[in-house]
Amino acid sequence: MKVLVTGGAGYLGSHACIALREAGFAPVVVDNFANSRPAVLDRLAQITGEAMACERGDGLDARWVEQVLARHRVGAVLHFAGHKSVAESVAQPLKYYRNNVGGMVSLLDAMADSDCRTLVVSSSAAVYDASSPMPATEDSRRGPANPYGHTKLVIEDLLAALVAADPTWRVAVLRYFTAAGAHPSGLIGEDPRGAPDNLLLNVAQAAVGRRPFVSVYGNDYPTRDGTGVRDYVHVQDLAAGHVAALRALMSGERSLTVNLGTGRAHSVLEVVQAFERASGRPIPCRTAPRRPGDVAECYADPSLAQSLLGWCARRTLDDICADAWRWQRGNPGGYPEP
Ligand SMILES: NC(=O)c1ccc[n+]([C@@H]2O[C@H](COP(=O)([O-])OP(=O)(O)OC[C@H]3O[C@@H](n4cnc5c(N)ncnc54)[C@H](O)[C@@H]3O)[C@@H](O)[C@H]2O)c1
Repeated sequence: MKVLVTGGAGYLGSHACIALREAGFAPVVVDNFANSRPAVLDRLAQITGEAMACERGDGLDARWVEQVLARHRVGAVLHFAGHKSVAESVAQPLKYYRNNVGGMVSLLDAMADSDCRTLVVSSSAAVYDASSPMPATEDSRRGPANPYGHTKLVIEDLLAALVAADPTWRVAVLRYFTAAGAHPSGLIGEDPRGAPDNLLLNVAQAAVGRRPFVSVYGNDYPTRDGTGVRDYVHVQDLAAGHVAALRALMSGERSLTVNLGTGRAHSVLEVVQAFERASGRPIPCRTAPRRPGDVAECYADPSLAQSLLGWCARRTLDDICADAWRWQRGNPGGYPEP
């Protein structure tokens, strides 16, 4: 079965393409390369041994997406395309609502018109209200702290309304915690355009000397060492979660919403130390003020994904750092530009 992967050239999408391929599906990448590079497709071909189908274009263009769905006779969609920076969403909310919510609406229009109604969607732990007790279960109160999280909440509500109104839709909403790590080949990994705003990538770039130090945003949070605490989940585990969700939908599950996290919580300083162990290099850090939109701690109760999908995260923070380091060391400047 062909599976459209919107944002398939991006960080999570590219790893999901490999997992799909290994599970016997045929991925079709759709991407406008707003935050990725075409070179990822060569790397995917190297890893899988065959060229990956790719359509370059904008997911906001529903008619174009509909044509792509028809041309490839797509049976299901994994939807990753979207913007993901909390800090940027605070500064440019319209950009986030336009692309994340607008892109979701366009995709649903295109799918409905193509009679393709099986969909796995990227949501985020950012939908949770940070003042609710952790770990977050799927029933924890939602209340995003930033516009990025709000776009995911709107998407979740839209999908819930759609499934309630039309029983032919099959929709899995996956709330990821903090994605990290890279493919163990070291051939693909995270390489956003512009400055990264996530910790692991900043740490990895500091380790190769691409940045002089890591900014630690806030050391006065009510956490064990004062720095922010997150649930870091390996990108390979997330990719496996998508295949598990797709299989559940294909076996008759109509609608599900699950956390994809490890249940383990690590502070910024713990991540820095783990990366120092993996790389054997010191990572200089400087404390900076808290960033607007950031929360003190966020980690998952992943038990529902285990019971519904048979999924659990298998890799540890040390695995994440080892794989992220292999990618960063082999590709210190990221993917080559054409
Ligand atoms: N990385 C994380 O830790 C994390 C955590 C929670 C949720 N998510 C969500 O997962 C999804 C994927 O995240 P990622 O880390 O792979 O991000 P990414 O930026 O690496 O990948 C997104 C891809 O979508 C493409 N894209 C964006 N807008 C597009 C459009 N209008 N048309 C076509 N292509 C478009 C980008 O070029 C990029 O290749 C996002 O929706 C993000 O919000 C990510």
